[in-house]
Amino acid sequence: MFELIEKKRNGKKLSGEEIAFIVQGYTAGTIPDCQMAAWAMAVYFQGMDTEETAALTLAMAQSGRMLDWHLGDRVVVDKHSTGGVGDKTTLVVGPLVAACGVPVAKMSGRGLGHTGGTIDKLLSIPGFRVELSEEEMYRQVEEIGLAVVAQSTFLAPADKKLYALRDVTACIDSIPLIASSVMSKKIAAGAQGIVLDVKYGSGAFMKTRDQARQLADIMVAIGENLERSTEALISPMEEPLGFAVGNSLEVVEAIEVLQGGGPEDLREICLDLAARMLVVGGGAADVSRARALAEHGLQGTMSPAWMKFREFVVAQGGDLEAFRQRVEARQCLEPIYYRSPNRGKVTRLDALGIGQAAMQLGAGRAGLSGGGCDGIDPDGIDPDAGIRLCKKCGDFVEEGEPLVALYTSLSAENHSRRVERAWESLVCSVECRE
Ligand code: URA
Repeated sequence: MFELIEKKRNGKKLSGEEIAFIVQGYTAGTIPDCQMAAWAMAVYFQGMDTEETAALTLAMAQSGRMLDWHLGDRVVVDKHSTGGVGDKTTLVVGPLVAACGVPVAKMSGRGLGHTGGTIDKLLSIPGFRVELSEEEMYRQVEEIGLAVVAQSTFLAPADKKLYALRDVTACIDSIPLIASSVMSKKIAAGAQGIVLDVKYGSGAFMKTRDQARQLADIMVAIGENLERSTEALISPMEEPLGFAVGNSLEVVEAIEVLQGGGPEDLREICLDLAARMLVVGGGAADVSRARALAEHGLQGTMSPAWMKFREFVVAQGGDLEAFRQRVEARQCLEPIYYRSPNRGKVTRLDALGIGQAAMQLGAGRAGLSGGGCDGIDPDGIDPDAGIRLCKKCGDFVEEGEPLVALYTSLSAENHSRRVERAWESLVCSVECRE
């Protein structure tokens, strides 16, 4: 391992065998954290080419169980968004693509820091089970065409271990390490078609469009290298997607889209993602036909996608009626409003700051390395806490008009501290110019 660290530190290319040796040794515990951290930092500075990144992806995918789908001529697809604020697209595109005939099997993460996780959103529905056995998952995808489950500890354990190490050694934002981390989980979960939504902007890992393009290109190259049909979309994350940020608030907004309404930006990206998933999954010959199919799937209050969502929630034990009742009871309580200090046009709704404010209110947890919000149990997420934007960038506001609604549990011991911290994040994140 000493020689391999030195080789990468000096900017040389590692072979597939050398990369497999590193991943196997680290997973088995024969390579210690200190050496792996030095190697990750060498990769951070020297980078890796596509071949090395594909070899790292495959070695991490092979470090645990690999799922294998047998659905005749049907191709199983997966999608991944590289972190975001208010990103509830999986809740819409999963059922939409399944309703259009292409099976979707998705492993999702929990939220970290200012970015929300699909699993936390689904857990805001009473009874919803995010841990299915492999058998249950296979059966559900075969029967209804859709399953969304939490990341299994049996899949890509090398990535789990390396991600935790990167998190405490300032090695998260390295393009080859992010690309191999994301793709190893997709490959281990058996995805045959993959669509990636690579975000850029204040609320994303990649701060510029150029960086997002580089990450997208390398992930597509890895997918193709490993014979998975892969497509990537690049999308901005300067302001949150839609209006809602926080678990049940986001489920409600996703349901609005599934019932033919919802915010335009959210609906648009869902249609775009779904169209690409239908193409990589063989459900449509080209993007324009796929788009027409997806639009039909989202039409009306009883759209095919909404019907599929209900079927999916029931299959995983969720109770939408209990969800509706709890959310309605909660909405009777007046939120706290952050109001515009002046009349003018909204020029900034910073995704990072708004995501942090939602986390402070109890909607999320701090990073793996801890830190973050005082007094919030890292796993004690409040399913109904969060933020609802009253305006989007470009809208006009009057002085004193609500800009942002804050939702948090009044019964939480540290309620006023939560609001105070969220308020501090909002002050630096929201701007209106006269
Ligand atoms: N998401 C992942 O799964 N891995 C990374 O490295 C970054 C984001």
